[in-house]
Order: sequence, then structure tokens, then C-alpha cells
Amino acid sequence: MFAIAHPNVALVKYWGKQPGTANIPATPSLSITLDAIATRTRVEAATEDRVFINGSAVADAKVLGLIAQMREVWQLPPLVVHSANDFPTGAGLASSASGCAALVTAIDHAFGLNLARAERSTWARRGSASAARSVFGGFVTLEAKADWAATPLLNKDAWPLEVAVAITSDAAKRTPSTIGMESSRATSPFFDAWTSTATEDFGAAQRAVLERRYDALADIAEHSCLKMHALMLSTRPALMYWNEATVAAMATVRRLREAGTPVFFSVDAGPQVKAVCAPGCGEEAAAALAQTPGVLRVLTSALGDGARIVEGEDG
Ligand code: DP6
Repeated sequence: MFAIAHPNVALVKYWGKQPGTANIPATPSLSITLDAIATRTRVEAATEDRVFINGSAVADAKVLGLIAQMREVWQLPPLVVHSANDFPTGAGLASSASGCAALVTAIDHAFGLNLARAERSTWARRGSASAARSVFGGFVTLEAKADWAATPLLNKDAWPLEVAVAITSDAAKRTPSTIGMESSRATSPFFDAWTSTATEDFGAAQRAVLERRYDALADIAEHSCLKMHALMLSTRPALMYWNEATVAAMATVRRLREAGTPVFFSVDAGPQVKAVCAPGCGEEAAAALAQTPGVLRVLTSALGDGARIVEGEDG
């Protein structure tokens, strides 16, 4: 028995927190949950807290911090956590999102906490805010309501977008998101502009999803992505998550779109490029990205389900 959770890609980005220690985002965000990559997590009672990611013992601050917070509410025993990612960890593919969503789901099940999905989302958000969204499948929003639990916006089958992910590096990022976004808040002259325009972007993206208007979603998602990277670049010291292949892959996506293929890009705190395609266009985008210089490999994904328990030994 193990918990499985998938990474998500934000189409309206979260970058920056409200003051305080509760891990509350400064802006609302909207994401799609992916199907093709996942974190699988098992937890067991032990004599001391220990965390293994992909078989290696790690002192993972997000995982240990989240367990400590849950212990303030429930009498959890010392835990051993076994977590495995079937994709590069800490490299801009949202391993902390799937990781914290899977962890809360595993603890909830192992110790009979009987949390509703929205409660699991709030707990996952305390570990890593993007994780709140991975508790749900399909199109998901995260905004200032219900203790910042995420909310499902549209079912994955109602608009089955496809995502081609161009991997340009397997290396872990130099500046983790939590540190980078605090640095942006403290030093970027663009931070106020970022927060004051986010609600409008969020509303526009929500409407585009509910009305399945692909071009409108493409425009707002690329704008939110590039605006986040402008904020990162204007941080001191600058946060530069792209490499040459990232830029080349973004150009490939733009070229495809100008030629009429419905595809737009998204890039997070790492060098990978996610090409979000209208239904039926994922293979074409994946083939073009695979031909792009510097792209190591491309994986394709449908939209996926939220975090859940699966029977079996894997994990
Ligand atoms: C660029 O959720 O990893 O992926 O709350 O500090 O754990 P913490 O940050 P995290 O940041 C994700 C940033 C992003 C954009 C997004 O997913 O919205």
C-alpha cells in the first residue's frame, strides 16, 4: 500500500509568500496535474524520523517540517518515509509538490486521520504551497479561501490537454524555490507589480479554462510564466533558471504556434520546458522538441488524477 501523487504545472504561477510562517502564497495560482510522472510514498512507524528519497537517506526540511507540524495536531509515532520519484528530483519538475501531496496522503491513510481531500490539500500546502494543487487532478486553483486549500476547477476529461516535457538537464537547481521566492520578495523592484497583477491573470485564466478557450489560456499562461521569470531575473542576486536548451525549446514552441499548432510553453524554477498542447497535438510538439539542440529527452503526459492510495508493494 502506498500513496501516489503527480507533479503539476502552474499556468498562473505562484512565486512569493505572504509574511509569516504559515506558507501562504502572495498570489493565487492555477495548475494542471500531470499523469505520466509521479512520486510514490510509504510511511511506517519507526524508532526515529528518517526520510529516504529514491533509496538515499536525506534530511529533507520540507518533509521533516511537515511531519513536525502534523505532530502538533495528531500523536504520530516516529516515522520512516520511503519516497521515490520516477523523474529528476529538485530540477523544476515539481518534486516538492508531488512529494508533499503524497506524504500527507500516506500519513492520513496509515494513521486513520480520515482527512477530507480539501484538508489534505491545506496540510500539503503547509509543506510546499504548490503541493496543495497536486492533491487534486485536472485543472486546479489555489487562492485565498478555505485556509488556502486548493479547489478543483475542471475535470481532466472535460478538456484533455496534452503536455510534452523537454528535459534539458537532470541536475538539481542551485537555488530552491523557497529561498528564491523570498529573495525576490526582498530585493526585486518588480515584486509589487507581480502581486498587484496576479488576481487579474488568475481570473482571466479561470475563465479561459471554464470556457475551453485555448488561445486565451495560452496567452495568459505564457504571460504569467514570463512575468515570473522577469521577477526572478530582477532579483538580487539574479535567479537564472534557464540554459541554452531552455531558450531553444521555447523558440521551438513559439515557431510551432506561429505555424498554427496549438501549443504554448511553461517553465518553472528549473531549465525544463513544458509544452502544453490542445488535445491531439502532444506528439507533434514532442517530436519538434526532441529535434531541438540540447534537449536530452522528451516525455509526454495526459492530465492526471489527484493524490491517492494504491494497493501494492511498490513505493
Ligand atoms: C515555480 O511550491 O516549491 O513551481 O511553497 O516554498 O515549497 P514552497 O514553494 P514551491 O514553489 C513552486 C514555484 C513554481 C511555480 C508554481 O508551481 O506555481
